[in-house]
Amino acid sequence: MLDSFVTIAYIAASALFILSLGGLSRQGTARRGNLFGILGMLIALVATAARMDFGGYGVLAAALIPGAIIGALLAWRVQMTAMPQMVAILHSFVGAAAVLVGIATYLGHHRQMNEGEAAIHLVEIFIGVCIGAVTFTGSIVAFGKLQGTLSGRPLLLPGRHLINLALLILTVALGVWFFRSPGTDGQTALIAATIVTCILGAHFVLAIGGADMPVVVSMLNSYSGWAAAAAGFMLSNDLLIITGALVGSSGAILSYIMCRGMNRSFVNVMLGGFGTEVGAAPATGALPAGAEVHSVDAAGAADLLREARKVVIVPGYGLAVAQAQHALAEVVRLLRERDVDVRFAIHPVAGRLPGHMNVLLAEANIPYDIVFEMEEINDRLKDADLVLVIGANDIVNPSAMEDPTSPIAGMPVLRVWEARTIVVMKRSMASGYAGVDNPLFYRDNTLMLFGDARKVVDEILAASR
Ligand code: TAP
Repeated sequence: MLDSFVTIAYIAASALFILSLGGLSRQGTARRGNLFGILGMLIALVATAARMDFGGYGVLAAALIPGAIIGALLAWRVQMTAMPQMVAILHSFVGAAAVLVGIATYLGHHRQMNEGEAAIHLVEIFIGVCIGAVTFTGSIVAFGKLQGTLSGRPLLLPGRHLINLALLILTVALGVWFFRSPGTDGQTALIAATIVTCILGAHFVLAIGGADMPVVVSMLNSYSGWAAAAAGFMLSNDLLIITGALVGSSGAILSYIMCRGMNRSFVNVMLGGFGTEVGAAPATGALPAGAEVHSVDAAGAADLLREARKVVIVPGYGLAVAQAQHALAEVVRLLRERDVDVRFAIHPVAGRLPGHMNVLLAEANIPYDIVFEMEEINDRLKDADLVLVIGANDIVNPSAMEDPTSPIAGMPVLRVWEARTIVVMKRSMASGYAGVDNPLFYRDNTLMLFGDARKVVDEILAASR
């Protein structure tokens, strides 16, 4: 009876997790998707707890209640711009859990198994522990780099690829020792492999520049999923296997989408050393001959907005830093009241995490139907009277299309320069994430509006009323 209840609950939870992922893929259904996920997790927790011996409830409550309170408080207080490091530290917990479950399963009581089953069980334990350990330390390093506790510079030790290879070979050798050990005699090999893979995870992520951390976090997200799936095999828990596979594959797909949005290969990101000096003076890309910057003030920008009939707004990382989305929503409301055609153009890697801009705009209640993906709006930018670029840089850089020697050559970009007039709001001429100069700022139809995005948008709002 109880077993049937647990099976049905697990199937329901799995279905809810799949519906959740489906819902999260669109802004309009994201809230519903999130609710499906919460409900699925609640059902999973109750069903798993129902399977336990009554005596275990005290321990469960002691772990669950403080954990839930701490998690809720941290999630409540985290700033959107600090979300990548929050996700990174949460992945480290999944990795640590997989390591602990693996070691406990190995040392704990074994159910009766035939020789083949026992061998497969040992493989599950070893792989789960190793992936978990890499995820654990890799995520902690990623958290440190994103939080600024560790330097964002890549640690490029001489022969670092050889070091990684040597650590991998050592892990395989320890694996052979582990499989050949009878009973629980393989514990030394298992602990040694845990230590080696912990070093491997830390070294691997230390060698990647701080600016590439979002892709690494997404990759670690994928690893944490596979670690959870391995734990599911160890515990014979079908739900954990399904959930782990969902997280593992969606993390891998997300990493792929991010790399494609930056026109970089996954291997190129993993080899590190790209865009490590965010906000530095432009490092590469020759300035156009006789380059001259035309600027405008907030009152001038408000005048341009008053005259325009078709306006496209391109938000970028600076909008998130300045938290200007609410003031911007007010400007958009005023424009729409005057029957101006206002649209948002969202680049797939605008900001620092997937969907960053969509979340900001949703937070400010910008209607979904005026928010367009890059592919949907790029061909229409030439019809715009005015494009407002707010705190964006790389995603509107023409050298990605026009300069084959540029470090971002080939990256898909929003062709804002095709519009009649472009107003770029940022604080200075500094580069963005990729550390390259942006010729857009020197074009004849571009006007620079210098200042913090929040302050400038507030000034435009005041001048527009
Ligand atoms: P960036 O190219 O990084 O440019 C952001 C600009 O915002 C900066 O040049 C900065 O110029 C300006 N800014 C910063 N704070 C500001 C403030 N308070 N007020 C006004 N402006 C401010 O950002 P983007 O155009 O959004 O492009 C995203 C970049 O991140 C791409 O290169 C992408 O490949 C990379 N990336 C994205 C992701 C994801 S998934 N989104 C993941 C990894 C990497 P000032 O300092 O002059 O103000």
